[in-house]
Amino acid sequence: MASRKSKNHLAVVTGAASGIGLATTRRFAEAGFRVAAIDRSEKGLEQLRRRKWASCVHAFVCDLGDVAATGQTAQKILKEQGPVRTLVNNAGIWYYTPIEETPDEYWQHTLNVNLVSAAALVRAFVPGMKAIEGAAIVNTSSRNALSSSPNASTYDASKAALLGFTRTMAVELGPYGIRANAVCPGVIDTPANKAEIADPQFVENYLRLIPLNRFGKPEDMANVIYFLASEEAAFVTGQHIVADGGQMSGQNYSRIFDVTQWTPANSEKKKSKTRQSSNSTPAKKTSAKKQPAKKQPAKKQPAKKQPAKKQPRRRAR
Ligand code: NAI
Repeated sequence: MASRKSKNHLAVVTGAASGIGLATTRRFAEAGFRVAAIDRSEKGLEQLRRRKWASCVHAFVCDLGDVAATGQTAQKILKEQGPVRTLVNNAGIWYYTPIEETPDEYWQHTLNVNLVSAAALVRAFVPGMKAIEGAAIVNTSSRNALSSSPNASTYDASKAALLGFTRTMAVELGPYGIRANAVCPGVIDTPANKAEIADPQFVENYLRLIPLNRFGKPEDMANVIYFLASEEAAFVTGQHIVADGGQMSGQNYSRIFDVTQWTPANSEKKKSKTRQSSNSTPAKKTSAKKQPAKKQPAKKQPAKKQPAKKQPRRRAR
């Protein structure tokens, strides 16, 4: 099983040249795995191979948008590296288009990379995995599989489908000792989100949604992926772990609005204040002429936080 003691087992990681895939490749390499790193970026893989920790990493250039080429790459890996213990289907792509402007081509491409190629790798590796104790599959889905964003129909549907596929694998492959789980990242600080995270307005707005008050690091995800592949998760299959700094857990409205303006407790206080002033000690009898009540200047209310005018260029996934 995947543990610190694991030596020389083979893990396959897709989208290995950047972000979550790169951190995951490192996590497995440092735990003693050989890693077959798949990516479409030849340059990215070359850079990966030059890293100090990457002597046990074997690079395979492949565009997962081409399902037939993915199958061929899987056969090459089996031939050159032998059977796979851990498969991490991590690569993903996304389009941001309104539903009515999304052509079939975008649907097909997104599904090929995010789902069908993952299935092609599973198909190729599962026969060998059946013979390996502790074999596991981990799929990188997304928080968007559970809570959608406008203009992300292809992405959201593909990531939700990946969760469905994960559960099917769990029930179908469980009897062979193969576990299948998924991770659902929130916003992770990877090159994919570089533009958004460089935008201070985006950061200020978005962090209000994240109780832990930060974006995730690629290593945060690599640790969860490694855990799900490890013997520590030996009885966990068919599950997904959301790692999003608490974003999906609910909203802390006080980070978005000035809630003191509308909580019931506050309006009760206001009411009782009004009651008190109308029942308060009767005015002293004086011989002085009754003065017309002085107009009080309206109490200044604390300014309500306005929603930021500038919208993020696109929603981070
Ligand atoms: P990234 O852009 O840093 O890395 C993605 C890697 O996948 C790149 O090296 C790229 O060359 C490779 N890749 C893309 N399309 C490919 C294809 N057709 N064939 C082969 N390789 C391909 O992205 P990041 O952020 O590390 O994302 C990794 C996964 O995490 C994706 O599946 C993404 O949907 C998911 N995710 C990321 C989130 C984030 O905030 N960064 C949030 C939720 C999910």
